Amino acid sequence: MYSAKVMDHFANPRNVGELPDANGIGEVGNQKCGDIMKIYLKIENDTVVDVKFMTFGCGAAIATSSMATEMIKGKPLSEALKLTNSAVMEALDGLPPVKVHCSVLAEQAIKAAISDYYTRQGIDPLPIVGPLTEDCHDCQCH
Ligand code: FES
Repeated sequence: MYSAKVMDHFANPRNVGELPDANGIGEVGNQKCGDIMKIYLKIENDTVVDVKFMTFGCGAAIATSSMATEMIKGKPLSEALKLTNSAVMEALDGLPPVKVHCSVLAEQAIKAAISDYYTRQGIDPLPIVGPLTEDCHDCQCH
């Protein structure tokens, strides 16, 4: 059911934990399955210098968060903002259809963390990040 890459990132997730000196924190939840994802970003000179995540969720949520954090680490904010759930899924060699929403959670948590960063800088995040969707409307997991 899962690709080797998904199994690898589930069994050995990268960037798990909290960042005490994070300057952008985003938390999103899925109302239907109750899963929660929290992303911590350390941003310097408009670049993601460090990133960690905590997820209380399914294996696919863990694997997509792990891959998503690897994909934005060291990248400029403009690139981190362009990360889509389909790019994360592609990097993981796909996800079963019922698990697609789990990758949306990772994308949304990163966007929420970047929004938080801009808000802390006194910058309105809406024109840069766009509106945040806090839950997944297509969850078919439960
Ligand atoms: Fe809810 Fe995967 S994130 S089941």
